[in-house]
Amino acid sequence: MNQTVMIPRLEEKKIVPVVKLDRTADAQPLADALIRGGLPVAEVTFRTDAAEESIRIMKREFPDMLVGAGTVINTEQAKRALDAGASFLVSPGTSEKVLTFALDNDIPVFPGVCTPSEIMTCLDYGLEIVKFFPAKQYGGLDTMKALAGPFPAIRFMPTGGVSLSNMKEFLAFKKIIAIGGTWMVKGDLINAGQFDEIAKLTAEAVALAKEV
Ligand code: 3PG
Repeated sequence: MNQTVMIPRLEEKKIVPVVKLDRTADAQPLADALIRGGLPVAEVTFRTDAAEESIRIMKREFPDMLVGAGTVINTEQAKRALDAGASFLVSPGTSEKVLTFALDNDIPVFPGVCTPSEIMTCLDYGLEIVKFFPAKQYGGLDTMKALAGPFPAIRFMPTGGVSLSNMKEFLAFKKIIAIGGTWMVKGDLINAGQFDEIAKLTAEAVALAKEV
């Protein structure tokens, strides 16, 4: 399965920081802060022009870090992410073009879903892990529990409204392989160069995830 290589890493890390970088100069210190916080993982979103080069920098500076691309909404971005060295792709929705590209190029992909139909499309492509997005706004845990009924093989990676205050509740549901979010890598912290604070917030999240 396309996602197999990622399963042990997601099960171990449990948290995927969703990063939006405005400046490539922040890529190295941000990655360093996440590593210091005990979480060598980043989903660098294609919401800014800095994404592609930031992925390249993180992979060059920290080859063991798990660096993926987020907000991949078309094959052009998927290709740029792959060229930059991304280890996985995450999309906010389910694009069959992006799924085909990822499967053809052997890069793990995590499409966004919030309905049964989207999950069925993912199953057609042999995928079993989906991003549930935006999690809070689409009914959070209750909706994932309802979706787990007809789709027992599916595991979720919820993002959107996940934070320190509710992460344990999400992780306690065994169909959730990992959670994602921006709360430890907020744009204002990155832009202000507050990397020690990011490392601290990351360490807090890592410690909480270990309690589940
Ligand atoms: C994402 O793209 O996964 C979300 O924007 C993350 O949502 P959050 O900011 O509520 O954590």
